[in-house]
Amino acid sequence: MSDSKSQAINIIRAEHRALGAVINNIKAMLQEVQAQRMAMDFRLFWAMVYYIAAFPDRLHHPKEDDWLFARLKQRTPLADELINTLHSQHQAEPAALAGIRRDLGNFEAGVPGSLEALQATVANYADFTWTHLRTEENELLPLAEAHLLTSDWDAIAQAFAQNADPLTGSTESDVFDALFHDIVKRTPAPLGWGAA
Ligand SMILES: [Fe+2]
Ligand SMILES: [Fe+2]
Repeated sequence: MSDSKSQAINIIRAEHRALGAVINNIKAMLQEVQAQRMAMDFRLFWAMVYYIAAFPDRLHHPKEDDWLFARLKQRTPLADELINTLHSQHQAEPAALAGIRRDLGNFEAGVPGSLEALQATVANYADFTWTHLRTEENELLPLAEAHLLTSDWDAIAQAFAQNADPLTGSTESDVFDALFHDIVKRTPAPLGWGAA
């Protein structure tokens, strides 16, 4: 496998794992809150929702659309239908997240029944996202591996690796790595590394 091909695929899989971990965390912590084994930490929950909006939604999915999907479309029509489905799932993300924000806000305001509503919304979102990530890894990536050229992988790897922030000098992914680690540190054990 070419260096840029394995680099691109590794970055995509790692970003999927980070997104999946945060979503699982949200789901598992809500169960703990409902069972009254854990106090609700609204700041942590808003940070996790922010992470999903700012990183996967603003950086990961658009780069798939603009680079991975676009290049694959140029090389073969075989992935067209799959790409259309995945692209419309990307388009549905902001509305799905808005639903989580609404229910989280209602829960914070003490609206009756809002914890159950939030749990249902999060469970739907988790299923939706897992299906999306699995389809990309099990169906889209194998097609990409079969049809993309080395020059495509070079461009895709560069796009995924490059999130330079000109103001801080650090890369945007460094900032999100820090945010992700902060989330894990503040999440109580055994889900995270924080005090139980
Ligand atoms: Fe995606
Ligand atoms: Fe993805």
